[in-house]
Amino acid sequence: MKAKITLLPGDGIGPEIVDATRQVLESVAQKSGHSFTFSTHLIGGIAIDETGVPLPDDTIVACRSADAVLLGAVGGPKWDDPTATVRPEQGLLGMRKALKLFANVRPVKLFRGLEAASPLRPERLRGVDLVFIRELTGGIYFGQPKGKETRNGLRTGFDTMVYDESEIRRIVELAFEVARKRSKRVTSIDKANVLQTMQVWREVATEVGKANPDVQLEHQLVDSAAMRLVTDPSSFDVIVAGNMFGDILSDEGAVLTGSLGLLPSASLGEGTLGVYEPIHGSAPDIAGRGIANPLGTILSAAMMLRHSLNLDEDAKTIEDAVQKVLDSGLRTADLGGGTNSLGTTQMAQAVMAAIEGA
Ligand code: IPM
Ligand code: MG
Repeated sequence: MKAKITLLPGDGIGPEIVDATRQVLESVAQKSGHSFTFSTHLIGGIAIDETGVPLPDDTIVACRSADAVLLGAVGGPKWDDPTATVRPEQGLLGMRKALKLFANVRPVKLFRGLEAASPLRPERLRGVDLVFIRELTGGIYFGQPKGKETRNGLRTGFDTMVYDESEIRRIVELAFEVARKRSKRVTSIDKANVLQTMQVWREVATEVGKANPDVQLEHQLVDSAAMRLVTDPSSFDVIVAGNMFGDILSDEGAVLTGSLGLLPSASLGEGTLGVYEPIHGSAPDIAGRGIANPLGTILSAAMMLRHSLNLDEDAKTIEDAVQKVLDSGLRTADLGGGTNSLGTTQMAQAVMAAIEGA
């Protein structure tokens, strides 16, 4: 099969981990006889530096004409002034909106052999295997009006949380679809005891639940869900949430495994086009040193093969190779590799060796 993949390395460690992952994709392509072509474009802080905007038009064009997009990370201290009118994060948000990627899928799974890296006690961690389905193009991130102004002589900021039923229905339905391939349980997150938006959210989620009785639906308030994520994380399977609650809870969920550097994500819309990226961000403190863990990006590439390119077997080849490398004791610095730590390229090469030997 032939596929066009757009690479958006972005900022910080982004270029290093995307480059390492491209090599892994090339080794999969060679093994399975696929032909992947890559083109690299600007997003985030580097795009601001080079073009003045965080999301140049030709980046969007390149994403639209691709079969899939692999993204590194955006942001860093250089562009961190929260009052700046142009910010790297706008590139990410603008891309989600422009490509209509309304769903962010973040699986959180414990890797064999890394249990000790978690901040939780092992008995609390046993069996943790959940997936966040976060709404990505609506809610308080995009609702209007939003702004800053002076009211009665006081600096005032405001944002609007808004969801219509169609936005809620499509994300909850996606959660049900995902749950159907897992253990058929969905937890819908809201704050229906306070927010009107979230009362509509719960109503619509309940309707989807009634229409799909083969999947078990429960509702949970976001605050108590935040507690349950640390006290009883293995009781969750599929968690569906609005944009902001999903942003917060998915970071909380990610840190449970203690291996932030390993977790992938996919941002999906109606079609097969998706944007795949590790969840860890741009890590400016270690950028350019060749020590970043590429596995979260490599596993994001596996999600890309599965969801956008329909290459399930090749996705599994990558995932098995990563587990094999971890089983053999190889570690990057963030995974506690200490003085034996592998660098970014070495870790990618270990994965490639496992792929080639499979
Ligand atoms: C994420 C990030 C982004 C978000 C930021 C960088 C704008 O935290 O992808 O979770 O809030 O959506
Ligand atoms: Mg976030």
